[in-house]
Amino acid sequence: MNPLSIALSYHDRTKHRPNRYAASLGYMDWATQPDPFRSYEGAPRLELPIALEHPTPPCDRLFSNELPVAPLHVKALSQLLQFSLGIAQYKAYGENRWALRMNASSGNLHPSEAYLLLPRVEGLSQEGMIAHYHPKTHALERLGSFTFPDTLPQESFIVVLSSVLWREAWKYGERAWRYCQLDAGHAAQALHVSAAALGWHTKILNILTPKLEALLGLDTPNRFAPLEREHADMALLITPKPLEGELDWEGVSAPPHPYRANTLSPQHHRWEVFDSLETAMQGVIPPFSLPSHPLSSPKSAAEVIKTRRSAQMMDARTSTIALEQLRALLRSSEAPDAQVHLMLFIHRVEGLPRGLYAYVRNLEALQDLRSNLDADFSWEAQGERLYLLREGDFRGVAKAISCNQDIAADGAFSLGMLCAMHRMEANALYYRSLYFECGAIGQQLYLEATAQGLSATGIGCFLDDEMHALLGLRSERYCVFYHFTIGRAIVDMRLLNLPPYERSAL
Ligand SMILES: Cc1cc2nc3c(=O)[nH]c(=O)nc-3n(C[C@H](O)[C@H](O)[C@H](O)COP(=O)(O)O)c2cc1C
Repeated sequence: MNPLSIALSYHDRTKHRPNRYAASLGYMDWATQPDPFRSYEGAPRLELPIALEHPTPPCDRLFSNELPVAPLHVKALSQLLQFSLGIAQYKAYGENRWALRMNASSGNLHPSEAYLLLPRVEGLSQEGMIAHYHPKTHALERLGSFTFPDTLPQESFIVVLSSVLWREAWKYGERAWRYCQLDAGHAAQALHVSAAALGWHTKILNILTPKLEALLGLDTPNRFAPLEREHADMALLITPKPLEGELDWEGVSAPPHPYRANTLSPQHHRWEVFDSLETAMQGVIPPFSLPSHPLSSPKSAAEVIKTRRSAQMMDARTSTIALEQLRALLRSSEAPDAQVHLMLFIHRVEGLPRGLYAYVRNLEALQDLRSNLDADFSWEAQGERLYLLREGDFRGVAKAISCNQDIAADGAFSLGMLCAMHRMEANALYYRSLYFECGAIGQQLYLEATAQGLSATGIGCFLDDEMHALLGLRSERYCVFYHFTIGRAIVDMRLLNLPPYERSAL
């Protein structure tokens, strides 16, 4: 089978259907629960200074050209990582204690790992290196030396994201690969926003994923326990100035490193469907855009990033929001050349009738969407990019489609991210960039919701074809890859909040 058929067949078999969810063990095998922290045995660990109290710019000035640009120093690098992929807090209930991070993750399983290709960094190292980020201790594990190519802009560096599919597969079985891609998008956007707080720019690089894996040694035999291998997702160049054009990767290489990764689980369950899928999804991932929008609050970026949390329950009585809040949330998701549109179930927004709406993130797709969605939709314009498709109370429908989760009905609104799946006809690897784009939108919506004093939750559990039927889709030209909800949360006061690191800030 070719990559397109493999991806489409995987997509179809991992749809949740009303009478049959995608294949998984069906129970939680606690004895094999994977370690959420990857580490490399014997690799020198360089602790980064705790940056949690660093002053950061107001959210509403993020991504503006007037922000001061931080020099590449260990303090800035530490802040970048801490405010994107670091631990935000520990929660405790009875005997149980678990870490929550700045980036959201499906089931809090955190499949995304980050590697850095660094030049000399003031305060950290006199020479370039390849390092793995260890969020638990907020440290870099130095894997080997790296000669940073002259072709790269001064004071810039690269972050490579990869996924440990097993972490998600342990709980979610065959649908897990989807969640890893969404989580990678969340992590990329978390880095993008954290970089913006330092006045830095982010660019997703055009590079073959096998080349990235070779650079980091992810393809080295026996580096990982069988079934715990990582696959590269993407590489982000972080620079003090935006980079024009593409990067010259010719001749970029690194010597192999000797360190073996820790074993995450004593035993594994093998899901054969991933074997062909992971091979088919290797290559140059088509580009996608990260939202680069200031958040609508004068609060510091750090305050918003640190307090972002998923709502476990929404409070139907208090979740009504103003129309301007909805518009700011939608606007914050915008990005150039968008391939993902938001199909909204509006439940409680002042000044808008309840109903099904579309937020067309890329107006070039408007006609195509109109001719592919239900012909009876009214497409009544409600201000820029927002269209009322059908008036009505969609609370029950939204809940039913979101695997019966109340959060989809009890907030101000919930939504499905509708992806231009037809892009895969030209390049099957769009299958990955569409997920990445959805994940990035999700992370951005979480942050904008937090900035507004609201709460949000990503929803990976939804009934794919029920949503497609509701939209009147008759082909796979467009498919939903991710759902989301925003409102006011009911906070579980029984949980104890504990600080993320015992070390104190310098
Ligand atoms: C891709 C993705 C899918 C998710 N799906 C669900 C879901 O279906 N239901 C739910 O209650 N939470 C869902 N979540 C929220 C996670 O459970 C949450 O991010 C995780 O527990 C960590 O908590 P935090 O976001 O407060 O850091 C999802 C999150 C992501 C990123």
